[in-house]
Amino acid sequence: MKTTRAYAPASIGNVSLGFDVLGAALAPVDGTELGDVVEVSDAAEFTLTCTGAFAHKLPPGADNNIVTLCYAHFFEEMVKAGKETHHVAMTLHKNLPIGSGLGSSASSIVAAFHALNAHFDCPFDENALLLMMGELEGQISGSIHYDNVAPCYLGGLTLMTGNDAKVTVQLPTVKSWYWVVCYSGISVSTSAARNILPKEVAMADTLTFGRQLGVFVHALHAGDTDLAASVMQDVIAEPYRKSLLPGFDDARAFSMENGGLAFGISGSGPTVFAVCDDADKAEAIREWLQANYVQNEDGFSHVCRIPEKGAVEQQVKG
Ligand code: HSE
Repeated sequence: MKTTRAYAPASIGNVSLGFDVLGAALAPVDGTELGDVVEVSDAAEFTLTCTGAFAHKLPPGADNNIVTLCYAHFFEEMVKAGKETHHVAMTLHKNLPIGSGLGSSASSIVAAFHALNAHFDCPFDENALLLMMGELEGQISGSIHYDNVAPCYLGGLTLMTGNDAKVTVQLPTVKSWYWVVCYSGISVSTSAARNILPKEVAMADTLTFGRQLGVFVHALHAGDTDLAASVMQDVIAEPYRKSLLPGFDDARAFSMENGGLAFGISGSGPTVFAVCDDADKAEAIREWLQANYVQNEDGFSHVCRIPEKGAVEQQVKG
């Protein structure tokens, strides 16, 4: 019997200056696996088993689990494409906290699709799979956005194109930057965090958003890290969402006064991130956030890099 395992990393959506269009994969420097794992095995009928530190926070029942929806969608696409298919048993290792801003649902979705695709000998290419992942992410959060699924699946720093023929492109990353992430331990639903945003953006903010994103992409390609860091502010979501995040202003102030080059909300929060180009300063910010931003025993913090690779699969038997 064949079993295929896929790991899909946590990610930062938006990266402050790219609401819905920019995302970064995360890999803790200490080697911790920060991401969900899905296993797929041949079986006579579909089953889903959930384990892992945050499995008890999932909605009860396999039918309500996003991995089941991924399986149903994948199966349908296989049939549409005229491919042979069979049932599988799936296991979700739910290692990421739900509603954390670390791309938790994206991690489950990417691990599920990546494992299924590998298990069936890769019937779909990257772009076709990304479109499926975006659709499932949309079912959960209320709108299709790729800024978690794309970096989670492909790794690196990804910019969405708005073009279904090529959903995303990779941007250069700054190799010297550390990304300190801290999850406070409370849960913020993405759809609720989207609903508190205004439906229209003021002209001045629209101009700032466009300028920042253009300058950031240029600065990365030019290797001008100071210029890149200087435009990492969020004029779209942070002014509204920070009201949902206890201790946000203090965390920002400490980080920026102690070596942070940029600070922001990861995705829809409550995880925050600080960018830093010095390992000792990054560790000092991590320790402060762990002691002061974390609200309960579910919270944690890590110093991360942006990995070149996103989801990885492994055939474990067969
Ligand atoms: N871009 C998304 C948002 C990321 O900020 O709502 C969260 O999934």
